[in-house]
Amino acid sequence: REAQVAVTLALKAGRNMFSYCDEKGTEAELHHNLGISEKGQPEDFCTIIDVENERLVMQGLLEAFPTHKLIGEETTGTGEIPPLSKEHPTWIIDPIDGTTNFVSGLPLTCVSIGLCVEGKPVLGVVYAPMTDELYIAVSGHGAYRNGVRLRKQQIVKRMVDAVVGFEFGYARGKEKSNKMLAALGRIMENGCRTTRSLGSGVLDLVYVATGRLDVIYSGITTEGWKPWDYCAGVVIARETGCVVEAIDQTKGADFDLYSKSIICAGSEALLQETRVLIS
Ligand code: IPD
Ligand code: CA
Ligand code: CA
Ligand code: CA
Repeated sequence: REAQVAVTLALKAGRNMFSYCDEKGTEAELHHNLGISEKGQPEDFCTIIDVENERLVMQGLLEAFPTHKLIGEETTGTGEIPPLSKEHPTWIIDPIDGTTNFVSGLPLTCVSIGLCVEGKPVLGVVYAPMTDELYIAVSGHGAYRNGVRLRKQQIVKRMVDAVVGFEFGYARGKEKSNKMLAALGRIMENGCRTTRSLGSGVLDLVYVATGRLDVIYSGITTEGWKPWDYCAGVVIARETGCVVEAIDQTKGADFDLYSKSIICAGSEALLQETRVLIS
C-alpha cells in the first residue's frame, strides 16, 4: 500500500511540473512565473512548483498514513534537518530533484519519495516526468522501471572502462572548487571512458541502477547531498546489486542518509577504485 500511495503522488507531482515547461520567455518572466527564490545561496533555486509538489506529496502521505513522520527539502529549508525516527516510519521527499535543470528546461529532473522503517530506507519511488520513467524499488523485492524489472548490475568494470557521473553540487569558491577539480583530475589522469555531470543526484543513483552510468560520486565538500537526494535512489540502486558508500564513513558501516558524500557503483571493485582516486 505504501508503494501505491507514493506512486500516485509522484505521478501527480510530476504532471504538475509540465504546466510550467512551455513558454519560457525572458529570464525575468521565467523568474516571475516560476516564483523563483534563492534559498541559502544564489545557486540553490526554489520554485513555486518545488513548494507545491512538496505540499501535495506531504498532504497525500499524511492522509494515508497519519502516524508517519515526514522530512522534505522545502519544509526543512535552510534549517536543521530533523533526525531520522527509529520508532515511526519516515518519508523523505525531494519534490523536484534537479531544480536548475527544470528551470533551464533540461529534461533530467524528477520527483523522489523514499520511506525509511526503523531508520533504514526500504522503499524508493522516483518519477522523471520529462522522460516519463517511473522507478519503484522495495527492499528485497527488486527494482522496476515502468513495470519492467531492472537487471542486476555487479558487472565488474575498471575505472578505465567506466562512464563516471559526478556532481559539483552547490559548493563554490576557490578552495572547494580546487578540491573537486583535483579529484576529477585524478580520474582523468587514471583514465575512464568518459565523465558526465547531469545535475540530478537522484537520477545519478537511478542511472547507476540501470547501467546508464557505471559509478557516480557527489562533491566532497560540506555542501554534500542531503537525505532527500539519497533515500529513494539508494533503495533503487541497492535492489539492482549496486553498492553505496560515503567517503567519510568507517569501512563496512551502513550508508548513513545524513552523510555528506556518496559513491555509488555497479560493483564493489569499481567503488573502491573510485574512492582511492577521489579521496
Ligand atoms: C541538487 C541536485 C544536484 C546535486 C545537489 C542537490 P536539488 O538537488 O541533485 O545534482 O549536486 O547537491 O542539492 O537542489 O535540485 O533538489
Ligand atoms: Ca534545492
Ligand atoms: Ca535534490
Ligand atoms: Ca529539490
